[in-house]
Formats: sequence, C-alpha cells, structure tokens
Amino acid sequence: MKNIVVLVSGGGTNLQALIDAQNSIGLGGGKITCVISSKPDAYALTRAAENGIKTIVINRKKYADVAQYSRAVLEALDSEHADLVVYAGFMTILDESVCNAYKYKMMNVHPALIPSFCGKGFYGLHVHKAALAKGVKLSGATVHFVTEECDGGPIILQKAVEVKYGDTPETLQRRIMEQAEWKILPEAVRLFCEDRIFIEDGKAYIKEDK
Ligand code: GAR
Repeated sequence: MKNIVVLVSGGGTNLQALIDAQNSIGLGGGKITCVISSKPDAYALTRAAENGIKTIVINRKKYADVAQYSRAVLEALDSEHADLVVYAGFMTILDESVCNAYKYKMMNVHPALIPSFCGKGFYGLHVHKAALAKGVKLSGATVHFVTEECDGGPIILQKAVEVKYGDTPETLQRRIMEQAEWKILPEAVRLFCEDRIFIEDGKAYIKEDK
C-alpha cells in the first residue's frame, strides 16, 4: 500500500474528490494517510478530520523563507513515509530540496491547460481571470509532476473544459473543478498507485490497460 500525503491551503474540494474516490472505487491501493496544511484555518483540515485522516499544520507565516519552510515540510513528509505527495490547492512554493527528494513522486493539479496560464502568479482565481481576459474558448485542468520549475514538470493528465459567454472567474473555476480537476486528480493518483505512470525523455506516459 502506498502512503499518500496531501498538501492543502484552502477549501479542499480536490482533497474531497480524493477522499470520495478512496471511499468508492479506491485509489489503486493507495491510502491518504496524512493531510498537511500551510494555513491553520484551511477548511480542507475539517474535511480530513471528518474522514479520520491525520492532519498537520505547517504554517507558512511562521517561517522566514522558502528554504526553512521547505525543510519543515520535507521532515514531515519523511516522517510520514510518504510514497506520493499530492498538491491539492497547495499555494506555497517548495524549493529544490523537496522536489529532488520526491522526484516523480509529487504531483500538482493546476486549473488550466499547461503551458497556458501557468507559472508564478498563476494560482486560484488569477488563472481563470487571465483565461477570460485572453478570450480562450477552451481551458481546463492539468495534473503534472512537481519539479523546481513552477508548473513546469511532466504532464500526467489534462482535460479540456468549454469557456462560455458570460463566464466569470468564479463560474469558470467551478466548471473546471467539476468537469476536470475532480476527475483527473483522483485518476492520476490511481494510476500512480497502480505503477502505471512512466517517464521517458522527461515526459510522463501512461501504461494502458492490457
Ligand atoms: C483549485 O482550482 C486548484 O486547481 C487551484 O486552486 C484551487 C484549490 O481549490 N490550484 C492552483 O491554482 C495551484 N497553482 P480546493 O482547495 O477547493 O481544492
């Protein structure tokens, strides 16, 4: 069984999608063993506690810089024996010490079709504001491995979602969550736990069902 540690900062709807998948079709033999939050008041913590999942708060505001914060998170991941680390609305950057220690064992869900609307400053509603400002007709979500480069790691899964006339950042965010994020994040976690993701030439691929 693989230990899955989920990193959160906010409402935790993606965490909820993972919990729901775990309780229904399963996560390919993986189990969410711990939820770590960068904020003490994240609602995601309540979702975890209600489902009997261990929670840890590592408050970003209590650390002077990214290096010190990264060290604290790395220690927690190691002591939780994490086999897979999932960023589910985790809004804090970790440095290369964590990325290297958990290379291809750490994934993130991003609310756009990478390489569009990603990188530094593109998080949460900012992503959807930028997509609407450009007038794109399709946006979506991406699950990718986390590397040092913000939103630059190998892409595991993507799903496109229609942008509609009259959308606001909030309506677009909700549609992308419902139609893409809450589906492809549990799917990517399942594929990982089934050892079906492989890397070739720095890109991620899925071993198909036989
Ligand atoms: C989600 O849309 C997620 O993709 C996004 O923040 C939201 C968190 O919602 N993450 C990023 O923008 C990271 N770059 P949640 O807390 O309800 O899962």
